[in-house]
Amino acid sequence: MRVLSGIQPTGRPHWGNYFGAIRQYIDLQDEQESYYFVANLHALTTVRDPKLLAEYTLDAAIDLLALGLDPARATLFVQSDVPEVSELCWLLMTGAPMGLLERCHAYKDKKAKGLPADAGLFNYPVLMAADILAYDADTVPVGDDQLQHIEVCRDLAASFNHQFGEVFVMPKAKILDASAKVPGIDGEKMSKSYNNTLEIFDDPKAQRKKIMRITTDSRPMDQPKEPAGDHLFQLYSLVATSDQREAMGALYRRGGFGYGEVKKALADAAERYFAEPRSRRAELASQPARVREILADGAERGRKKASQVLARAKEACGLII
Ligand code: ADP
Ligand code: TRP
Repeated sequence: MRVLSGIQPTGRPHWGNYFGAIRQYIDLQDEQESYYFVANLHALTTVRDPKLLAEYTLDAAIDLLALGLDPARATLFVQSDVPEVSELCWLLMTGAPMGLLERCHAYKDKKAKGLPADAGLFNYPVLMAADILAYDADTVPVGDDQLQHIEVCRDLAASFNHQFGEVFVMPKAKILDASAKVPGIDGEKMSKSYNNTLEIFDDPKAQRKKIMRITTDSRPMDQPKEPAGDHLFQLYSLVATSDQREAMGALYRRGGFGYGEVKKALADAAERYFAEPRSRRAELASQPARVREILADGAERGRKKASQVLARAKEACGLII
């Protein structure tokens, strides 16, 4: 069993990214051989500022390490450091039906809005297929927004295998826990595009300020409330211990509390919960050479695997004479 996932470097991670995705990827490193990479080639379809892309890429690697990705157990690398993937992408592109790619959300949505699209965006799913197939990955943990891309990957792999023999391992998506949808400070789904995020690595003071701004309903102090549907309680549950969570739930059901108290408890719990990753992050950020070394080691391991798969694919389709 080999698990693989790519993380786009597009800015500072928020609680939704962590509880909805990153934590779940990282947990898998204990169970299976795992590969994680920072998808900078994919990000290049949207981030066109060279300094920013380089900065985001290193930052994303530091974030993952700070949040518990262990380079002794998992392989962590930067996508573009394994050039075999880009070559494999071409092989797959030669057999990728236009219609299949035209149906993919990212491209289709942009077209529907009348916006100009690049070939990079159009071929985004093919590159993603190459990412997965290059390492013989069989399990790909992704959010449900990426499911269509895994289907494309399976289609491309099946048609290549059908034409040229059993070259690729058929991967399966492992859909991340959908119940882990994290609400933002306005109660809607937390997302960079809604401007309602709580960043993991904000300094505690800034984080506390944001938490104090979380919107609440106008329930009077004395009235009890069912905690389950309340976004403040949901956020608290993510960072509190189970005892704290139960005590807070009981307080909600009893009534006689103000949301200010809950926000304060949430800020305290969040500060404690992220204290260790925050200090690990500060330490790693002060040693970029060490991070680059980890990434170089990961890329070497990645290339070893990817070059075997690429050789297999090239041989099968007649590129080796
Ligand atoms: P954003 O919506 O902020 O742009 P991304 O689309 O970059 O976030 O998210 C990357 C991954 O993080 C997604 O695949 C998804 O699985 C997860 N994720 C993002 N926001 C949330 C959320 N509010 N709740 C749960 N998971 C989330
Ligand atoms: N497209 C994915 C996202 O936006 C990132 C990604 C790139 C990826 N290549 C991948 C995820 C390969 C899983 C497997 O989240």
